Amino acid sequence: MGDKLFLTGGKRLQGEVRASGAKNAALPIINAAILAKGETQLDDIPDLRDVFHLQQILESMGVGVAYDQGTMTINPEKAHFAEPPYELVRKLRASYYLLGVLLARNGEARIALPGGCAIGNRPIDLHLKGFKALGADVHLDHGVVEVKAKRKLKGAKIYLDYPSVGATVNIMLAASRAEGQTVIENAAREPEIIDLANMLTVMGARIKGVGTDIVKVEGVDQLSSTQHRIIPDRIESGSYMIAAAATRGDVYVRNSLCEHLKSLLAKLKEMGVKIEEDIEGVRVTAPNSLKGIDVKTLPHPGFPTDLQPQMMALLTQAEEGTSLVIETVFENRFMHVDELKRMGADIKLDGRGAIVKPSRLSGAKVWATDLRAGVAMIIAGLAAEGETQINDFFHVERGYEKIEEKFKGLGADLHLE
Ligand code: UD1
Repeated sequence: MGDKLFLTGGKRLQGEVRASGAKNAALPIINAAILAKGETQLDDIPDLRDVFHLQQILESMGVGVAYDQGTMTINPEKAHFAEPPYELVRKLRASYYLLGVLLARNGEARIALPGGCAIGNRPIDLHLKGFKALGADVHLDHGVVEVKAKRKLKGAKIYLDYPSVGATVNIMLAASRAEGQTVIENAAREPEIIDLANMLTVMGARIKGVGTDIVKVEGVDQLSSTQHRIIPDRIESGSYMIAAAATRGDVYVRNSLCEHLKSLLAKLKEMGVKIEEDIEGVRVTAPNSLKGIDVKTLPHPGFPTDLQPQMMALLTQAEEGTSLVIETVFENRFMHVDELKRMGADIKLDGRGAIVKPSRLSGAKVWATDLRAGVAMIIAGLAAEGETQINDFFHVERGYEKIEEKFKGLGADLHLE
């Protein structure tokens, strides 16, 4: 692992790459394993900093965790569930899932407010609204959240003002052991939520409606351990597809589920990219000239905000026409724009919109301002002339497994220092 990535642009990406298991499915699912009696086995868990930090948090609470080549076993039988140290919790935004699982399991939890990517102020009011509706007392004091249920949690009807992924997951986790039925209205529909629900169902939970905006959870007294394979990472797959297009390459991304990537595939086709789907993955072949398009991020099944920075890097390489990118999910997710400009990108920001014009990029010293923005810098660097240096690369290692090796396998000229 290194903190700087050096790359030389101008190489056409070619060949095959395999997408790893999804980070954003793995994080809630690892947490959910604490709800089981006995040992859970999870397969295709990506080897990432976020996963490693979660492992350390669980171990600090006495949970038995072992990780070897993608397989993680989790055993909460001997856990004491003492409050995990802040230095660990702050490294991982998804540590807020501990609130839902510990509330379900022990009736209480105390966690310092989470860290993660600095993309907007990212409140957790909807999570807390859900816990309150289930009957928990919620206290916020000096950045520490305390949730406590005096009696057993009781199912309730909860309307989310926004279909938040985290709030939907956290309420599902808490409701899985509550008394009676919980109904989440305006629930998020992301594939990672479906993956979690599939695992909870095998563990014995009663969940209906996942993948729609109304999710119903009927609480049960006990959940049993199971074995589960994590779904492919659609954001990682999509990032390689976008990189292939930006270098006018020809890349097959194995372990990609097309049904999770519909909005991206539609947008790439609109740009003129050839897409061939099969049961194992997707082949992306780019023509010499690409068309500019408009992209608006939305909750799933709309275009994912987690692919917006990468897509913007690609759009600088569309020769025909101007593009418009509108970000509606996070209010401050344009930090990569200044970095792309350092490389010569012609982008104008106007509120939640960015106007992207065809640009000739040249290598520069840039910063990975967050996880996905860092990958956008790789994509821009691959399309640029000359050498690019990406600083603060640790952000990217939070969410992309073996990224140096995978890009090298496609012919990219890069290395970590
Ligand atoms: C998850 C993903 C993240 C992705 C995001 C949107 C994980 C670990 N992270 O983050 O990669 O970018 O979904 O697809 O799965 N909001 C509130 N109040 C809340 C919760 C959210 O106002 O209580 C707002 C947020 O500020 C944001 C929007 O809702 O503007 C979406 O956030 P949310 O869906 O909750 O994202 P995360 O779960 O944090």
